[in-house]
Amino acid sequence: MAKIVLTGIKPTGTPHIGNYLGMIKPALELVQSHRALYFIADYHALTTERDPEELNRQVYEVAATWLALGLDPEKVVFFRQSDIPEVFVLTWILACLTSKGLLNRAHAYKASVEENIRQGRSADDNINAGLFSYPVLMAADILLFGTHVVPVGQDQKQHVEIVRDIASSFNSHYGKVFTIPEVLIRKDVMNVPGTDGRKMSKTYRNTIPIFADDKIIRRQVMGIITDSKPPEIPKNPDACNLFSLYRYFASPGAVKETRRIYLKGGARYSDIKKELIELLLEKFGEGRRKYDALMRDKPAIERILKQGAETARTIAEPLLSKVRREIGIDLTSL
Ligand code: TRP
Repeated sequence: MAKIVLTGIKPTGTPHIGNYLGMIKPALELVQSHRALYFIADYHALTTERDPEELNRQVYEVAATWLALGLDPEKVVFFRQSDIPEVFVLTWILACLTSKGLLNRAHAYKASVEENIRQGRSADDNINAGLFSYPVLMAADILLFGTHVVPVGQDQKQHVEIVRDIASSFNSHYGKVFTIPEVLIRKDVMNVPGTDGRKMSKTYRNTIPIFADDKIIRRQVMGIITDSKPPEIPKNPDACNLFSLYRYFASPGAVKETRRIYLKGGARYSDIKKELIELLLEKFGEGRRKYDALMRDKPAIERILKQGAETARTIAEPLLSKVRREIGIDLTSL
């Protein structure tokens, strides 16, 4: 049987080409060879998002983005985390088996604590218990479906390792119920640079959105920061973030030719930017039409997510029953 691949998509910020290259594209490729479950992690987003309208809008934006980029709901179980009550039952059960010390070491939480201390505030200032328990909710997401493979970015690697620890300790204390998931990190696209050369991230405001207006895409690409060497000077393409982005979207032949011009001299940044704009508009043109249509038809998105949740629950329910029997909460079938 095909292995199960599962990943959660946190609905924060408008999806950008860093998300596309680092997450969406590789996840859609895995659908060919796996049974895929992809979901929108709205309750994870609640650890930071307090504006109800914003949260709601972002859930639809993310769902429409994945659907527009080719997620086929006939092939992928595509759902919203909050539609699966079993996730929250399992979250509590797992929390009771997770040592607090393990969560103290989770890097997202640890980074917030360190930042507080640096700023002279008390260690847990402004940190909610949801952020602290973040990896436990992730463990429930993953373990509830017998997941084999979890594709994530580098920043989530440690969280998946924590999930493996939690699963192993359950399995060794009770029966062997959980599959121990493998983490899958795509190395080649790990660091998609943003317009300022740092990692593309909404925190840095250096993103190029996938489906924004032409005008915004043009403005962002024209704003990519390069050095100020004149065209005739030879340049190192591998040290140029414009080239790094261009490389992902141009044809292999064009990449080779542009690389040659960089090295030889004659590469004009503004021309390469214009070419990149055309490549992006072309690449995401059809997707954008689908995206716009979906965003105008929220009930269509809702139907897809509800259908996905129904299917997901047929996997989750028997697994949760097994867990409850193991821990002694439901002994009717013993
Ligand atoms: N924590 C992930 C992120 O911030 C999202 C996520 C939630 C997830 N649950 C998951 C990823 C389960 C993989 C598996 O991006």
